[in-house]
Amino acid sequence: MKLIIRKLINKVSIFKILFNILKYILGKASLTSVSPIYFDGWKMATGTRTPWINGGSSALSCHFSETDSKLKRLVAEKKIILTQFKPQNVLAELEGLMWRHYIVYWSANYAIKNTKSKTKIFAEFGVCDGLTIFYAISAAKNLDEPFKIYLYDAWDEMKEEFLLDSEKTSAGSYSYLSLENTKNNLNHLNVKELIYNKGYIPGVFDRADNPKELAWMHIDLNASMPTIHALENFWDSLEVGGIILFDDFAWPGYEDTQAEVEKWACDKKCNILHLPTGQAILFKL
Ligand SMILES: C[S@@+](CC[C@H](N)C(=O)[O-])C[C@H]1O[C@@H](n2cnc3c(N)ncnc32)[C@H](O)[C@@H]1O
Repeated sequence: MKLIIRKLINKVSIFKILFNILKYILGKASLTSVSPIYFDGWKMATGTRTPWINGGSSALSCHFSETDSKLKRLVAEKKIILTQFKPQNVLAELEGLMWRHYIVYWSANYAIKNTKSKTKIFAEFGVCDGLTIFYAISAAKNLDEPFKIYLYDAWDEMKEEFLLDSEKTSAGSYSYLSLENTKNNLNHLNVKELIYNKGYIPGVFDRADNPKELAWMHIDLNASMPTIHALENFWDSLEVGGIILFDDFAWPGYEDTQAEVEKWACDKKCNILHLPTGQAILFKL
């Protein structure tokens, strides 16, 4: 009964507001006001200043801001095609994704500065149209150090055999992806050091050109089983000081990914920072 009432309250926003006021009066909650709203998107609204406000105030945030504007311009000019969004919504979607993309950019920048290798090597597992890796490559280019990027994706529909029961509704997703489109998108960065490994994880690891050393990994596969395979395969190659960024860690529907990653990480020398965006950063110690 209690659950049904709570569900009803959550559905109708006026009830939700009244319910929260009542809780506040009864001393059972604190009131939160988000005003002014500096950011709204990805299941969050924040009333604190964003790092990229007014074009950014540090070298990193300024360059992130420039990267973000460049991407949006290329999307508006239809030079970059993001097939995962409806064309009429794509610029609004990118606005809502800014905190996520800032964290991609920041983590890549951090991994480059915090590792010892001469050539900084990145790998992304789950590339789609190349949106997130666009930010990571831009961070690497900006630091002016030699780098190389390994990209793994099926560029084809998700298959049931790689999904847990809780994830089976994703079977068939991403059937519309094309490797050619991703290549065209990333060509706008004028970077030669990109290695495209097309195929399903884990099988693709047996025949791909794989990195021997890594500074930064991004895992965004919407599935826990291949996520763990990527971790198992590349953990030893990740430099101390390097980073693994997880995209789906705390998103509703991906509880199994978080549970599996945390179980896997138990005996590893690392710290995981769980972020309000639903992402998580694993720092290798
Ligand atoms: C959420 S999308 C990645 C989005 C991308 N990181 C971005 O934001 O630009 C998930 C991707 O994982 C890929 N994928 C899912 N399961 C896979 C598997 N077992 N092997 C290879 N690719 C897989 C899909 O093809 C899809 O492109």
